Amino acid sequence: AMRVFSGIQPTGVPQLGNYLGSLQNWVKLQQNSTADDSLLFSIVDLHALTVPRSPQKLRQETLEMAASIVACGVDPSKSLLFRQSAVAAHTQLLWVLGCITPVGWLNRMTQWKSKLQQQGQLVGQTEALNVHAPAAQGLLAGLFTYPVLMAADILLYKATHIPVGDDQVQHLELARDIAEHFNKTYKTRLFPLPAPLLTESKRVMSLRDPQRKMSKSDPNEQRRLTRSAGSRSMRKERPGVANLLAIYAALRETECEQAAAELRDCSNAQLKEAVAEAVVQFVGPVRSEMQRLLANAGDLEKMLAENEEKVNGIARANWKEIATCVGLQ
Ligand code: TYM
Repeated sequence: AMRVFSGIQPTGVPQLGNYLGSLQNWVKLQQNSTADDSLLFSIVDLHALTVPRSPQKLRQETLEMAASIVACGVDPSKSLLFRQSAVAAHTQLLWVLGCITPVGWLNRMTQWKSKLQQQGQLVGQTEALNVHAPAAQGLLAGLFTYPVLMAADILLYKATHIPVGDDQVQHLELARDIAEHFNKTYKTRLFPLPAPLLTESKRVMSLRDPQRKMSKSDPNEQRRLTRSAGSRSMRKERPGVANLLAIYAALRETECEQAAAELRDCSNAQLKEAVAEAVVQFVGPVRSEMQRLLANAGDLEKMLAENEEKVNGIARANWKEIATCVGLQ
């Protein structure tokens, strides 16, 4: 049987890359889903703890993300949308998987390596300046085990298909490796090997710098799109144009070639205008629906709580199997 799992960090509103790289597939998967418990989508508030913020802010952004996801078209009657922290078995399985995951595998994760590198630069700077900065106190352990928690998210539900963007593929391969390693270690076939589901625009590039991935740590992206930032790089070279065409095609749900043909006679300014228009047409209704949902936050909370009860049912049964398999209780 097909079981889909995916997660998203609670950042209030998703950025365009989140939508085009992952959320769009969540919505599409609903079209031919049969069982009512085959689509699981989680707002990963536990993962979010690796990025320090105030408790109120985390709670608020979690709820806002729930509203955004529903507003983007994830239908609560077809998908189980839930908060990761509401299902304790995620953290229980994290521990079990951490106990079979070699540190070397985690050391190879590029996201971790770039965190290490950033930290190294910070430490280098502060040492050079001879100041004692909090950053120099080092990286959080949670950042290192982050991908193991991701593997736990997936394997807890014996998920088979994982809609993600390109940047999560390495983490997914790790989850596969962990699943295989677990099965071998305990001589079982408990975990199916999860496979990524990628969209056409699995890697939406930054509008400011089309050589880099669009990232949530750049909150100005959305605004830039409707202003002028894309233009400088676009004038200079092709990647900006290709990125804009890909965004346009994905938002209009057509092929890239189709979009290219449609916009063939556009000047750079007109191309930008067309993409901005597509974004506005998409974002406008999503935003007002999100606001409507947030105005009835009670209903939203109720929906989440109901889903979490169902999801806990699935998780408990699987956790029992896992615990038995490794000799707990
Ligand atoms: P997160 O919250 O950073 O991103 C959510 C989804 O958006 C995709 N994405 C992109 N796709 C295309 N182009 C981009 N520029 C772009 N930026 C982000 C991400 O690949 C992701 O699919 N660790 C995960 C959340 C997670 C998860 C999981 C995902 C936790 N557990 C289990 C799948 C399965 C994350 O931080 O995604």
